[in-house]
Amino acid sequence: MRRFIDLADFNRDQILDLLALARALQDKPEPRALAGKILGLVFLNPSLRTLASFQAGMARLGGSSFVITPGQGTWQLETHLNAIMNGAAAEHIREGIPVLASYCDALGVRAFADGRSLNEDLREPLFEMIDGLCDKPLINMESAMNHPCQALADWRTMDELKVPARAKFVLSWVYHPKALPLAVPAAAVQMAAMRGMEVVVLRPDGFAMPPQIMDKARLAAASAGGSVTETGDRAAAMAGASVLYAKEWGTTLYYGDTEADSRLRADLSQWCVRESWFTGALPDAKLMHCLPVRRNVAVADEVLDGPRAVVKREAFNRLTVQMAVLHRMLA
Ligand code: CP
Repeated sequence: MRRFIDLADFNRDQILDLLALARALQDKPEPRALAGKILGLVFLNPSLRTLASFQAGMARLGGSSFVITPGQGTWQLETHLNAIMNGAAAEHIREGIPVLASYCDALGVRAFADGRSLNEDLREPLFEMIDGLCDKPLINMESAMNHPCQALADWRTMDELKVPARAKFVLSWVYHPKALPLAVPAAAVQMAAMRGMEVVVLRPDGFAMPPQIMDKARLAAASAGGSVTETGDRAAAMAGASVLYAKEWGTTLYYGDTEADSRLRADLSQWCVRESWFTGALPDAKLMHCLPVRRNVAVADEVLDGPRAVVKREAFNRLTVQMAVLHRMLA
């Protein structure tokens, strides 16, 4: 495997193979599988889980890693093409990425959305540029519109919990004081559609998922036997649900307009998941969230501290599935 950028680049059997390998590596560790291999990790944006789980996973397989957080002890990197670099950035990724790739056997990069133009961000111009600059295996550690490592961990978590492939999966918008990127919700919809689930996106007006993301997921659902719909009706969405996947994201109607986004979300603070949201869901319905989560803003304590929440298992599975990806790339 040379690239792990989007779950949609893989067929269902290839995903199932990665999930089986994740399970196998957990049951029967291979502490020398990647001896002598080096993973480079470039974080253009902050992280807790992604950074720690990739370093831990590489070490558990016998390899090593280095971390670059541009501007924090290393040169700040410019990411825009044709930039006149008379500002804070001393180096362009056009030099930085190939140089870093030359020191390692695989590179992971986190590069969030620019957040100004929806159509631009949907094209993933920054990650495409990084892809073209990296002659080593490349892992998407969250790009403008994708987070395949999170999606794979979420798929494994549902398998562990024995959530049926045809179960109802509700991705719900939840409140956050500011606009967050679409990467995780887009990846979650794609993952659940590829898994064959009945996917419902629940969101207030102004926060509809972009048609490009919905169409792509519908294509995956069609071949996996599932469906993908969207609604603003919480009771209808939650009826019979097995999973509520909570996520915060910015307005898509006025994408990039901070003031319009603030106005739209001003009256939406009640979109904080409480136990009452699960009325009508299956009795053992689960609450998923990629983390980090703002307690009592996005999800209430009563849910996060209760038996429905599987958020820490999702985070743990970042380690197990990423070890499978690294093993397929480098072993
Ligand atoms: N879910 C996730 O990617 O967590 P971090 O942002 O902490 O890496």
